[in-house]
Amino acid sequence: MREDILNTKNEALAQIMDTGSQDELENLRIAYLGRNGKITQAIKNIKNVSQQERKSTGEAINEVKNAIETFIAEKKNAINKNAREWFDPTLPGIKPKVGHLHLVTQAIDEISGVFEKIGFRRVRYPEVEWDLFAFEGLNMPKDHPARDEWETFFVDSPENAKFGKIVLTPHTSNGQVREMKRVKNPPIRMINIAKCYRRQSDISHVPMFHQFEGLVVDENISIVNLKGTLDYFAKTFFGEGRVTRLRPYHFQFTEPSFEVDISCGLCGGEGCKLCKSGWIELGGAGMVHPNVLKAGGIDAKKYSGFAFGWGVERTYMMKGGIRIPDIRLLYSADLRFLTQF
Ligand code: DAH
Repeated sequence: MREDILNTKNEALAQIMDTGSQDELENLRIAYLGRNGKITQAIKNIKNVSQQERKSTGEAINEVKNAIETFIAEKKNAINKNAREWFDPTLPGIKPKVGHLHLVTQAIDEISGVFEKIGFRRVRYPEVEWDLFAFEGLNMPKDHPARDEWETFFVDSPENAKFGKIVLTPHTSNGQVREMKRVKNPPIRMINIAKCYRRQSDISHVPMFHQFEGLVVDENISIVNLKGTLDYFAKTFFGEGRVTRLRPYHFQFTEPSFEVDISCGLCGGEGCKLCKSGWIELGGAGMVHPNVLKAGGIDAKKYSGFAFGWGVERTYMMKGGIRIPDIRLLYSADLRFLTQF
């Protein structure tokens, strides 16, 4: 009997050593220590052992039982540990998600880069602004009908005797008078890129969008300088071969005023399905009105200037030939849309 027990022990230990999984190990535990297991049977059978041998046989069985239990527990830990440490370096890795700048931030960086190359300096002015800078200083006296073009958000706050009401900037032209007052003595070469706010929301308008505003003031500045700057921008930003044209228009703060068109990238100005006329409208521009120079404290007899102000989103879409069915998607924070750019 004793010998049988010791054989059982060796056999059990060999089998446990060979197992590779928790399931196999559990089966072995049942086979030896379970209700009908070999060790359990041996304990039951001890009553058949002769009186003399019973004690030593009992001790041997106990010892073997403990040994098997310990061995199973150790093996269980070893299998667990292996499972955790198993690392296959040949498996393809998990690619970390990398974000990128928002489409509009990319556009702003690119546009300011183009102007900085020819000596413009990027500035920022308040986006919650006094009427004086947003309208009155731009040759739009109080109650002037031209103001209606900007669907302005007014801030509910007391009016200031000198500066007027507080508005959310409906355009970046507020930067003109502010920049003149800051620099005082021309030359001025400003590019002001900022958020603009208007009461509008449909598939081609958002209540918050961006504009970039150029302003140059110096001695002997003429339309030639404006046209040259616009053509430089057209070539650098949109590509060689693109040119601009000026169409007469009206703005209160420029005289003369223009709408700027750029030749269509597809047909080169001939006229095609995309553009119809051969030209695509970019935005407004003109020679700074003497009243605006005066509001900025600049001597209008000595200095002249030009200005332009265009939408960032619109200009960038035109460059890439990107057609967005609903412009509001730009600010929807929908990653399915944003990750495409
Ligand atoms: N501020 C005008 C707008 O928001 C755009 C504009 C037109 C800006 C002519 C200019 C300019 O500087 O000269 O519609």
